[in-house]
Amino acid sequence: MANRKIDLPPGVLQPREAVLKMAPYSPPTAGRFGKLRLDFNENTVGASPKVLEYLREHLTEDGLSVYPEYGEIKRELAEFFGVDPDDFILTNGTDEAIQVLINTYVDDDDEVLVLQPSYAMYRFYAEVAGAAVRTIPYRREKLAFPLEELLQTIRPTTRAILIANPNNPTGTGTSRAGIERILERAAGAAVLIDEAYYEFCGVTALPLLNDYPNLFVSRTFSKVFGMAAMRLGCLFSQSGNVDFLHKAQSPYSVNSVAVMAARAAIQDRTYIEKYVTEVLAARELLYVGLEKLGIKYYESKANFVLFEAGDRAIPLRDQLRQRGVLVRDRSYEIAGCVRVTVGTRDQVRRFLSELEQIW
Ligand SMILES: Cc1ncc(COP(=O)(O)O)c(C=O)c1O
Repeated sequence: MANRKIDLPPGVLQPREAVLKMAPYSPPTAGRFGKLRLDFNENTVGASPKVLEYLREHLTEDGLSVYPEYGEIKRELAEFFGVDPDDFILTNGTDEAIQVLINTYVDDDDEVLVLQPSYAMYRFYAEVAGAAVRTIPYRREKLAFPLEELLQTIRPTTRAILIANPNNPTGTGTSRAGIERILERAAGAAVLIDEAYYEFCGVTALPLLNDYPNLFVSRTFSKVFGMAAMRLGCLFSQSGNVDFLHKAQSPYSVNSVAVMAARAAIQDRTYIEKYVTEVLAARELLYVGLEKLGIKYYESKANFVLFEAGDRAIPLRDQLRQRGVLVRDRSYEIAGCVRVTVGTRDQVRRFLSELEQIW
């Protein structure tokens, strides 16, 4: 891409054209401690206590002084996910998985397909790479996955397709059969199925790995595992592809503390199962509460729900914040919509009681 000359303040070096063209993205990440955080779809009660216990026991000065080693954790994670250790890379959160995938397969001006609205980092990394991003809107009525529309958009030149299943912020998902149709139609493209919220819906493309060389699946420890601060994820594909992902990744992007935490986290399956059960019950409670208030919402397959607040979306978010409850305004991408994370039933009750007072 040719760099056009533009006027910048003195002393500012001109960046690449692709970066110049990007809209700034700055999620509201400050001042969240001490509040009821229903804004980032995190685990609202924290990681398993066994994770911290394990870190306290095993973290040493010596351990901190050496570069990370991944052999053992890869074997343990392979067993946990039911894949071969050669079928995935560890990543610094899903965000790095998206970045590595784009860096491995997408060149300047290549076509990348994303859905709209979806997780912002797909467009972000595609744009940083200078790709030509095409968007396919979710269906307006129920925000359903636009399978037919996506299939019609795929061309032989499409290089990557980035899909969250279930999707953020709509909460809607697509079936494994739908994913197979995409994989068949887009044989020449890297197809990412981002399963950040897999545990809440149970649909996964991982068993398709051996059948489709163009399939990439990501998982994260940021959501149900309650380890967003650790920045740890996995990117799965056939081992031939994984070799190339490795080539495009820096060797130590995942730190040793995250590796230790993951070892403990995957041993405490009960903690995860209990949390998922609690969230699913809380989601039902939230639906009932929203219905009572006459608020339209979209049924979700994840640990968050999108609801309609009309032209009050932003004031509502601000008033809830003053009352110590954080939610995310999404009205800039779906008119009038606010997204609330589902935590425990008690947290949903608190949210509903604050909402009732200002609705
Ligand atoms: C669909 C989706 N993928 C990935 C992420 C972020 O994952 P990570 O913390 O692993 O980078 C999010 C976070 O909101 C998300 O909604």
